[in-house]
Amino acid sequence: MTTKIPIADIAAQYLSLQADIDAAVRRVLASGHFIGGPEVEAFEQEFAAQCGAGEAVSVASGTDALRFSLLATGDGGARARARDGIDEVVTSPLSFIATTEAISQAGARPVFADIDSETFTLDPTALEAAVTPRTRAIVPVHLYGQAADMPPILERARRAGAVVVEDACQAHGSLDRGRAAGTLGDAGCFSFYPTKNLGGCGEGGMVTTSRREVAQRIRRLRDHGQVEKYRHLEEGYNGRLDALQAAILRVKLRHLPAWNERRRALALRYRAGLSDLAAPHGDGPGRGDLVLPVERAGARHVYHLFCVRVKDRERVRAALLEKGVETGVHYPIPLHLQPAYAWMGLSEGSFPVAERAAREVLSLPLYPEMTEDQVDRVCEALRDVLGRG
Ligand SMILES: Cc1ncc(COP(=O)(O)O)c(C=O)c1O
Repeated sequence: MTTKIPIADIAAQYLSLQADIDAAVRRVLASGHFIGGPEVEAFEQEFAAQCGAGEAVSVASGTDALRFSLLATGDGGARARARDGIDEVVTSPLSFIATTEAISQAGARPVFADIDSETFTLDPTALEAAVTPRTRAIVPVHLYGQAADMPPILERARRAGAVVVEDACQAHGSLDRGRAAGTLGDAGCFSFYPTKNLGGCGEGGMVTTSRREVAQRIRRLRDHGQVEKYRHLEEGYNGRLDALQAAILRVKLRHLPAWNERRRALALRYRAGLSDLAAPHGDGPGRGDLVLPVERAGARHVYHLFCVRVKDRERVRAALLEKGVETGVHYPIPLHLQPAYAWMGLSEGSFPVAERAAREVLSLPLYPEMTEDQVDRVCEALRDVLGRG
């Protein structure tokens, strides 16, 4: 193997847009408008238009987007339940910890429902059982770039009088039944962490919503609860997106549809290149084969990650690295087994589908600037490592 194949290559993305990004940065530097201002407002409008959202409110990170959305939708119906104790928010045990951090930091208790074994998103049947009279919100996580199966989730929330806050941090441009992830619930939360499908050159996030009052409250929360200069209606946060990120993200937003198409094309090439290694449908991976990601009928996957399942993952990872192929694991420990949540008293076996996924998932390199030849080299390396060369 010659050069190493990274799991993502954000420097390559910058180089492909260098002139436009440099011009945007110079424009902001010369303007003296570093926090808020026209770049931030323009980015919000362009982002809302591109995903068909009523409004978009920029914030400092995906974590802020989740925290502020839960705070802004947490009043109303929750008040009656608060009498009986703490509110609950149901989410997936296979996610980044930001999802549950935001729930706790918004004053609720995270409750888990297991995931679907093929799509890694909330299993509607498990969700049915996890919702209680205390459920204030449901947070589906559109994991790896694929939207959760939203109609049954929205229906369950409606019956419970709960809101739906979508964690779309990995799903910019993903669709469920033709509608954009992040526009299906009460609020949609995006991250612009550099490696995301739409990533900045630093931290950033966005909330999309068609609920005016939710957008308004988040605009206040991100700016210390301020309603006019130095008049604070409530305590808030320092959670604003800066103008440099907004200007850079405006340049990149124009390329997001093409980048997502490219990710899908590369995913298709992986599928073709790995089809002979695919485990029989329905079974988990056996020795010498793997399970390919499933694109749910009605969903448009944007492959933030191309995540396969293998047995003996750590050996496979190490052997791939030796052949110059970098991989990732998203995520090795399900949230309910994290030391941070030991207080929940949930042991191994609580959410078996998520636990098995955490043992088997392996993210292969995938980014828009990746070449077909690189995909072929990863397939070849995997074939060798699985003893099928
Ligand atoms: C599923 C998920 N939720 C939330 C976040 C938090 O986003 P951020 O890192 O921008 O705070 C991320 C990304 O890091 C994520 O992947």
